[in-house]
Amino acid sequence: MTSNDMEYLTIALPKGKLFDLSVNMLAKIGYTAEGLSENSRKLVIANEKEKIRFIITKTADLPTYVEYGAADIGIIGKDVLLEENKDIYELLDLKFGLCRLMVAVPQALKQEKMSDYAHMRVATKYPRVAETFFHSVGIQMEIIKLNGSIELAPMVGLAEIIVDIVETGRTLKENNLVEIAQIHPATARFIANRVSFKMKFDRINKMVEGLKALVESEGKA
Ligand code: PRP
Repeated sequence: MTSNDMEYLTIALPKGKLFDLSVNMLAKIGYTAEGLSENSRKLVIANEKEKIRFIITKTADLPTYVEYGAADIGIIGKDVLLEENKDIYELLDLKFGLCRLMVAVPQALKQEKMSDYAHMRVATKYPRVAETFFHSVGIQMEIIKLNGSIELAPMVGLAEIIVDIVETGRTLKENNLVEIAQIHPATARFIANRVSFKMKFDRINKMVEGLKALVESEGKA
């Protein structure tokens, strides 16, 4: 680590659904920076007074930035952590952004039991999670990796099944899909780079304690 790296605490935030909630939560415990917005074209936003640097990443890439130490810490969904499987510390469940990883099919293709779906094609942003799930239930599938709008795949014949996250259920409903199995619930997690956690322990631990107190107080509210 360079002395500049040591001076700053670099926090990675993901674009998308968790961004605003993450920014709000961090602001409540005093970590913020002027101009910190998802719509900003600036990808690195610093608070020089507090020696904090925020970086804004694509969701799936965030664990990579933390694993390599390009960011000391970050906030990301458990769904992404399960898929990316990086060598990082998961320090705290922030309990927001609740969704679930699940398997869904078009209503018309719904079968009696899971084994009836064997050898079908599965579209997903989560190929590792999907592979592990179908392996655990003992059926072989062809996994097709996509980067978004997964619900489109069964509508146009690219795949019969999807593995995706569902939050409100609205996207499934509007595209005539039904959930057939739940894989894993997911919430936002506070993660850290392994070296940073040792080298910047006091700063990171202070943050963890602040967030933990906030999660507990909001849980009671
Ligand atoms: C996610 C997910 C579903 C949708 C679920 O997509 O992949 O499409 O949200 O949310 P709902 O249950 O509240 O409808 P996202 O908006 O992240 O965009 P993407 O499809 O481009 O990945």
